[in-house]
Amino acid sequence: MDFIIETKDLKKRYGKFEAVNSLSLHVPAGSIYGFVGPNGAGKTTTMRMLTTLTRPTSGEAWVAGHSVIQEPRAVRRAIGYMPDEFGVYDDMRVWEYLDFFAACYDIPENNRRKLIDDLLELVDLAHRRDDMVDKLSRGMKQRLSLARTLAHDPSVLILDEPASGLDPRARVEIRELLVELAKMGKTIFFSSHILADVSEICTHIGIIEGGKMVAQGSMDEMRAQLMPHREIIVTVRDQETAERVKTLVATLPGVLDVQFLEPKSGRSRVRIDFTGDDEGIAAINQALTGAQIAILGFTEETKDLEAMFMRVTKGIVT
Ligand SMILES: Nc1ncnc2c1ncn2[C@@H]1O[C@H](COP(=O)(O)OP(=O)(O)OP(=O)(O)O)[C@@H](O)[C@H]1O
Ligand SMILES: [Mg+2]
Repeated sequence: MDFIIETKDLKKRYGKFEAVNSLSLHVPAGSIYGFVGPNGAGKTTTMRMLTTLTRPTSGEAWVAGHSVIQEPRAVRRAIGYMPDEFGVYDDMRVWEYLDFFAACYDIPENNRRKLIDDLLELVDLAHRRDDMVDKLSRGMKQRLSLARTLAHDPSVLILDEPASGLDPRARVEIRELLVELAKMGKTIFFSSHILADVSEICTHIGIIEGGKMVAQGSMDEMRAQLMPHREIIVTVRDQETAERVKTLVATLPGVLDVQFLEPKSGRSRVRIDFTGDDEGIAAINQALTGAQIAILGFTEETKDLEAMFMRVTKGIVT
């Protein structure tokens, strides 16, 4: 696998305190990677090492094929970084703000006007082009900050809590924007202490607590690795069909238990306790269709995924 961000035994010590401890991160190219952990877990510290702002105490880290220790300039060129604080930019208009950062990245003056218009369009701020930055709402500032990270067309975005302090609607907007950027081919590595922000759009997740990685992998791997079992509810027309489902499914690989549930709206329901990955779930579905059983509903109860996150991250507030 091709990892665009990779760390090995990464450590950051402040005096005797280990803020980041033997962290091994694996972020595949093209992924939306959610870096989740409670306050003080070490997310910002890790990101500051990846962005070359803080030097690791020991260990190694590579971003886009470059070592953060040996080739910090190459790393900086490859990444767009959005810090957790917006900073203060009095007396600047929205377009001037982007113009300033584009200039910092040596983008020629002649190209900047079009670039700024394109970026504002992307983050839906074209109508605020000439407004003062400090008059923008928090959600707009976050989007402007995101636009700024894109000025030099980086392949990797490192975003520290991009949705923090936003209302539900603004959070959704940021999430949609991240998905759009991923479609443009960018790898997105972002932190959050809010699970719901992460699990909906992420392809990969890493959970950090007390400076250590508790678990990481693709969404599917995380489920398989950490969930003792998953529950699938199959809805069918009547009890006779439900019994056929039970007989058929009981012998499939990964199936732990099959129970009849109370009928709902006159329909019979079967609960399948299952351990395994998404392929296994697809196999159950296929077996039912293959046996010509008329399925009215086939859903996974996702409560367990939430419970899994709560368990491994203890302190996380969702
Ligand atoms: N410059 C510093 N000097 C001393 N300790 C620090 C420094 N920076 C961070 N720490 C400590 O390292 C730990 C990790 O902090 P960090 O900011 O990386 O956590 P975080 O996961 O980003 O938390 P949050 O969700 O609150 O942003 C905390 O205990 C913090 O107090
Ligand atoms: Mg932080």
